[in-house]
Amino acid sequence: MASPHVLVTGGAGFIGSHTCVALAEAGYVPVILDNLCNSDARVRERLQRITGSTPRLIEGDVRDRALLDRVLGSEAFSAVIHFAGVKAVGDSVADPLGYYDNNVHGSLVLASAMRQAGVRTLIFSSSATVYGEPDHSPIPESAPCRPANPYGRSKRMVEEALADLQQSEPGWRIALLRYFNPVGAHESGLIGEHPQGKPNNLMPFVCQVAVGLREKLVIHGDDYPTPDGTGVRDYVHVMDLAEGHVAALRHAERQPGLATLNLGTGRGASVLEVVRAFERACGRPLPCEVGPRRPGDVPAYWGDPSLAQATLGWRARRGLDQMCADSWRWQQGNPNGYAP
Ligand SMILES: NC(=O)c1ccc[n+]([C@@H]2O[C@H](COP(=O)([O-])OP(=O)(O)OC[C@H]3O[C@@H](n4cnc5c(N)ncnc54)[C@H](O)[C@@H]3O)[C@@H](O)[C@H]2O)c1
Repeated sequence: MASPHVLVTGGAGFIGSHTCVALAEAGYVPVILDNLCNSDARVRERLQRITGSTPRLIEGDVRDRALLDRVLGSEAFSAVIHFAGVKAVGDSVADPLGYYDNNVHGSLVLASAMRQAGVRTLIFSSSATVYGEPDHSPIPESAPCRPANPYGRSKRMVEEALADLQQSEPGWRIALLRYFNPVGAHESGLIGEHPQGKPNNLMPFVCQVAVGLREKLVIHGDDYPTPDGTGVRDYVHVMDLAEGHVAALRHAERQPGLATLNLGTGRGASVLEVVRAFERACGRPLPCEVGPRRPGDVPAYWGDPSLAQATLGWRARRGLDQMCADSWRWQQGNPNGYAP
């Protein structure tokens, strides 16, 4: 039997490229659709080196209905994994319409093109930001959704639209995966995260300090009500996440329905714990300075991944030391990302 083809929107990006590795390892053929607004087509050569085959890249926008109709009509896709979107909380506050257009409108165009083409298996990249400030941690999927910014609201809107779709057409097989804080890189050091400009997230910032691209790490607040005063998050290795997508796909193949699942480790790590783990990985102290809290930052949260474990048989296996070691390997070998 021919290997099933899976359309991976945003597959050239950070989580998408790692998921292409996991898909290939599981016997699927990933086909990437990406407009490259935050990624680099040279990732394909790296994927070839890891998996032995170069994934096809269709360069285009997920909001381009005519393109999607051509792509989905031209070959038999068994499923779509939808990563394409924009993800910077601060930018979403500055440009809400752009964020709703890309994340919400893009997802609606994709879902209706899938419907027309008869492809009804969809794995959607949602985010723990849909919860907003939680009442307590670990956060279960049943916790109230109170997203606190346009980015989080764009993810929640798509979740609701897809749940309505599945309700009205029960043949759909949909997984809404709420990621906590994806970090790390493939253990080969060949693919990883390369944010444009100043990183918004802790790990890429720490990497850039370690490699000498930035002078020091500014810790945004050390007076939170957490054990060491710094913010606590649920960091999850990107290869664990990638494997979570394959597990969600297998689950969707087994039965129609809608699954909403947290993908996280179930453990929180503070900024200082991450810095110490990274220092162990790179073998030197990292210069840090404490600055004021960032407005809107939640002091601490982590997810309850037990439903994903029960439903998918998936759990995060890689710990903080491995996340840091793999990030460091990627950063050291590729200080300019995929550029030479
Ligand atoms: N990284 C995180 O911290 C995180 C956390 C929770 C959820 N997510 C979600 O996971 C998904 C992937 O995130 P990532 O970290 O890999 O980001 P990323 O920016 O590395 O990947 C997104 C990819 O989508 C592409 N893209 C964006 N808009 C597009 C469009 N309209 N048409 C086609 N391609 C488009 C970009 O070029 C990029 O390759 C996003 O939807 C993001 O919101 C990310």
